[in-house]
Amino acid sequence: MSKEHRVLTGITTTGDPHLGNLVGAILPAIKASEKTDTMSFLFLADYHSLIKNSDSQLRHQSSFDIAACWLACGLDPKKVIFYRQSDIPYIFELAWILSCLASKGLLNRAHAYKAAVSDNQAKKIEDIDKGINMGLFNYPILMAADILMFKADSVPVGQDQKQHIEMTRDIALKFNHHYGEILTAPEAIIDKNTGVLPGIDGRKMSKSYENTIPIFSEEGALRKLVMKIKTNSLEPGEPKEVSDSNIFDIYKAISPKDKIDEMQKLYQEGIAWGEAKKVLFEELSSFLKPFKNEYNKIIKDPSFVEKTLVDGSEKALSISEPIIKEVRQALGIKGF
Ligand code: TRP
Repeated sequence: MSKEHRVLTGITTTGDPHLGNLVGAILPAIKASEKTDTMSFLFLADYHSLIKNSDSQLRHQSSFDIAACWLACGLDPKKVIFYRQSDIPYIFELAWILSCLASKGLLNRAHAYKAAVSDNQAKKIEDIDKGINMGLFNYPILMAADILMFKADSVPVGQDQKQHIEMTRDIALKFNHHYGEILTAPEAIIDKNTGVLPGIDGRKMSKSYENTIPIFSEEGALRKLVMKIKTNSLEPGEPKEVSDSNIFDIYKAISPKDKIDEMQKLYQEGIAWGEAKKVLFEELSSFLKPFKNEYNKIIKDPSFVEKTLVDGSEKALSISEPIIKEVRQALGIKGF
């Protein structure tokens, strides 16, 4: 088999997907998966969610919602291997193996762990590890296993995940050094242009800032959110800059070129902010409509979602099985 370029990424199964996720991650990933010279892997990182969330009902519901969302946004399971992490037990076997290679010092330097420690320090808590579970500490190892399990060549992620990919490379090289050239050290692919969509308060759109526009909001709620977008205090009739306008940034992310040019002209002519918001609302509403319609259809049919994921997991298993066998052999974990 000639080795195709393998692109893999994981999707966290928490939170309401929002416009920032849609234009920054979901649509670009789906577009990238259409390339014919690559083999694409996309999975629901459902076991990662144990770290922060102890509500099983919520975990189950979020996994379903996120899977339905990706399918509604155009993910084609014929072109992408789309599966649940929890359906691939080899990942967890590999995670143990990798944890025996990764030095504790490496993980001490992981951003998420360091942030939790400095939180404790800021609160003057004596035990700097208070409230930190081993899942949080080991998170980068599970992520490395997600990636190395499929010998992925590249991993598109947000800037915040870059360190995890570097750690994955480190661990892969260490494995290969000890046991032979088996694992592939992956490259992070970070798109500098994405992830910068502003939220309604002007900061980066993010669930933690509570400034998001959820993809599947009702019309009324969508209108209200758009009307809340922060603007400066220029009056109607005064020319406005597109370069420091949240409304324009969002409009630009969802509109075709001719409409963007048109809006730019309206800004120069001094369009009132209320009016600009109306134009944005109309555009946003029609941009989101096909995704919403598809989503509403899909959530009525959980068995379709389930079957899609089971089919994907079968493919993922058949790819990971020979790799875990190769790894076990190399480790000397084999029959007599
Ligand atoms: N940690 C990633 C995030 O928070 C999600 C993720 C889990 C992932 N496993 C992965 C991404 C493997 C890429 C590859 O976004």
